[in-house]
Amino acid sequence: MLRNYTSTYPITDLSTPVTGTSALNRFASDIADGLNRTLKTTSSKYFYDAEGSRLFQQIMHLPEYYLTRCEQEIFTTHKQTIAKQLADGQGSFNLVDLGAGDATKTKLILQELLQQNAAFTYVPVDISGDAVSELCENLQHELPQLQTQAIVGDYFDALDWLDATTPGRKVLLFLGSNIGNFAPEERTAFLQKVREHMQPGDMLLIGMDLCKAPETILQAYNDASGVTAAFNLNLLHRINRELEGNFIVEQFAHFALYDPQQGVMKSYVVSKQQQDVSIKATGQTFHFNAWEAIHTESSYKFTKQQLHDIAIENGFTLQHIFQDKNDYFADVLYTVDQHDRTEPGLRGKLF
Ligand code: TRP
Repeated sequence: MLRNYTSTYPITDLSTPVTGTSALNRFASDIADGLNRTLKTTSSKYFYDAEGSRLFQQIMHLPEYYLTRCEQEIFTTHKQTIAKQLADGQGSFNLVDLGAGDATKTKLILQELLQQNAAFTYVPVDISGDAVSELCENLQHELPQLQTQAIVGDYFDALDWLDATTPGRKVLLFLGSNIGNFAPEERTAFLQKVREHMQPGDMLLIGMDLCKAPETILQAYNDASGVTAAFNLNLLHRINRELEGNFIVEQFAHFALYDPQQGVMKSYVVSKQQQDVSIKATGQTFHFNAWEAIHTESSYKFTKQQLHDIAIENGFTLQHIFQDKNDYFADVLYTVDQHDRTEPGLRGKLF
């Protein structure tokens, strides 16, 4: 198992060092690819520069943005049961937090696991080295008795590394509603890949936003104070700043819509007039017709039936659905049972 736990929490950096230029080139070519499509689009990963991250922190505190509060309520209310089920009365395990960020919600579970004297190592994984080192400093201060092995890197590089170096049962966390930002086929690919890293006895706890009154969902992505609009439009400011674009941001508007049949919230930036925008780092000029939109993010919402279907489709057993009192949000515990040895996708008999 893991050794050399001293006062400093160990951090393993698996990220491929990207020089400033190659990261910028990648950003430029991704933006150019998206804006050259018939239906213009940008990747949601570019929302989160320093300003975008600050605005997203504000979003999480908005009265309309129920998601974060609901998951916090779930963890506060059900932490004893959740911790018991994750620890499973068995020996030690690795608690792998995919996209840990500042781990505000995870800490509720960590405290409870420590209280229950569970034997586990906390393995926060995040692509942001800054987030990971800040988190480790904070944990060292707040939960000094916690065993931690932090990883900077991509989710699957982290899972490969764990498989190679760190034996033992795995409990994976994928909190927030990150799973909702995948299109259905991306979601399946992601879950199947995760499943391939899991053995019987391993578990996966996923945060999933549920279908509810369309106006409740819509307001969460279209708040009255305009923070979400600023967050969405910040992407244009970021392109101006980092890629030397000349977007006149006032000539674009944030627009959000919820499709209650597909269960998807969609966010757009709409050009209020016909215009050309040049982005120096791409060497290109992009034409916008009046009212042409850029699709910036999809956030899928799930029915209860889908939570069960996801288990069947990916070779999991659904062990428990934890919910807030309004049934707005769910943290779903999927397990891999002894009889789930079938390859994912082969649809073992799970229930
Ligand atoms: N991915 C988050 C979500 O789906 C972030 C988010 C909140 C977001 N509001 C947004 C992304 C508005 C784009 C536009 O909940």
